[in-house]
Amino acid sequence: MKKVITIIERSVTGFIPDNEYAGWQKKAIEALKLLDSGQGVGSDFLGWINLPSGTSAELIGRIKDICKDWQKDIELVVIIGIGGSYLGAKAVIEALSHSFSSLLPAAGPQIVFAGQNISEDYLAELEDLMKTRSVACVVISKSGTTTEPAIAFRLVKQHILKRYGKEETKRRIVAITDKSRGALRHMADSQGYRSFIIPDNIGGRFSVLTPVGLLPIALAGIDIEDLIAGALYMERITATKDADNPAVQYAALRNALYSKGKKIELLVNYHPKLHYLTEWWKQLFGESEGKDHKGIFPAGVDFTTDLHSMGQYIQDGERHLFETVISIVSTNRSLTIPKDQEDADGLNYLAGKHIDQCNKMAELGTCLAHLDGGVPNLRIEIPSLNAYNMGALLYFFEKACGISGYILGVNPFDQEGVEAYKKNMFALLDKPGFEIEGELLRKRL
Ligand code: PA5
Repeated sequence: MKKVITIIERSVTGFIPDNEYAGWQKKAIEALKLLDSGQGVGSDFLGWINLPSGTSAELIGRIKDICKDWQKDIELVVIIGIGGSYLGAKAVIEALSHSFSSLLPAAGPQIVFAGQNISEDYLAELEDLMKTRSVACVVISKSGTTTEPAIAFRLVKQHILKRYGKEETKRRIVAITDKSRGALRHMADSQGYRSFIIPDNIGGRFSVLTPVGLLPIALAGIDIEDLIAGALYMERITATKDADNPAVQYAALRNALYSKGKKIELLVNYHPKLHYLTEWWKQLFGESEGKDHKGIFPAGVDFTTDLHSMGQYIQDGERHLFETVISIVSTNRSLTIPKDQEDADGLNYLAGKHIDQCNKMAELGTCLAHLDGGVPNLRIEIPSLNAYNMGALLYFFEKACGISGYILGVNPFDQEGVEAYKKNMFALLDKPGFEIEGELLRKRL
């Protein structure tokens, strides 16, 4: 089997004595056994573990049918969702699409996202855009009641209904939600929208390989069967109960570093297409581990861009950081630096070299400089950016997150802390049922 993920820990071992690291590896293997046994905390949310091997041909067929249907006449698909109902699809679409796709002639419908904020300007500008295109919408919410996507959906739904009428609206809206609960399920059933079910035992941030991620990704023209094949490869690799398992290695390393006071993990990329992979990863680890007043704070940087803004702090600020670098071995495109007769910019020493060679030397030089500055860095190496490798990477992080949360001693599959802001927002917006909370809050203002 070809190797998709290699963890390179060369620059970490100096920070953790070998015998201590062996102890963390043992803990990680025990945590993996607990996770796979289904006996740990939060075990009613483990449906994602066997998702790649359990994806049915029927589901893929239904997704392809919608893509085919919309390919005929839809120019713009608005994907509505927030958190786990948005970030996975956004991460994969950004990673695998042309960097300037929105400005190039499109082979299929263009994809935009909404419902991931409550910005009036953003939504008003979305309305401007919708007026210029033939529009369809995928609305995603597991609970079916989240305020941000509900506001966006109300606007998009009214636009579609007004413009195309009731019958055609059924063809232009797809809902992805719970099988029976929530306002969105009720609307889908009563209005006759096509819909997909988010399984009960899969939480939002672990749902990218369900229709939540698969439908938007397929609509963007990406091969979801390859994505699932990569995830399936990783489902098998990360089931092995030994220290060769890359998810065990990563979970052991990050917990070992945390125990040494490295409380912030920076996920580093050298390709701007991976920006949203970092955003997805931040939610996955932040929402899974940030509990009981503990957990590594997941943050991210895009290099070399952010070396010119955050580089100083990383090199020389407080020493509570470690870095996890996503390293892509081969680029998909080939471009060399041209020779210039005058060499006014003094760059002829680079002439004939691939741009990626410069990027790689920046990566290597940065890793060594940060190591010298007291920032351990580990590297997750993947051969190239394609659907198969992205599927493997997503599953790898999910499995490592489950293991890591169990090592930390938290329930990685709940997110009670997310409710606090919602309660206050409802109270301040005078939502019926929140009158007392509203009064108490206003006294504090
Ligand atoms: O991981 C999670 O469960 C959350 O981030 C949710 O995905 C997010 O809050 C959106 O919830 P819903 O899909 O119910 O609208």
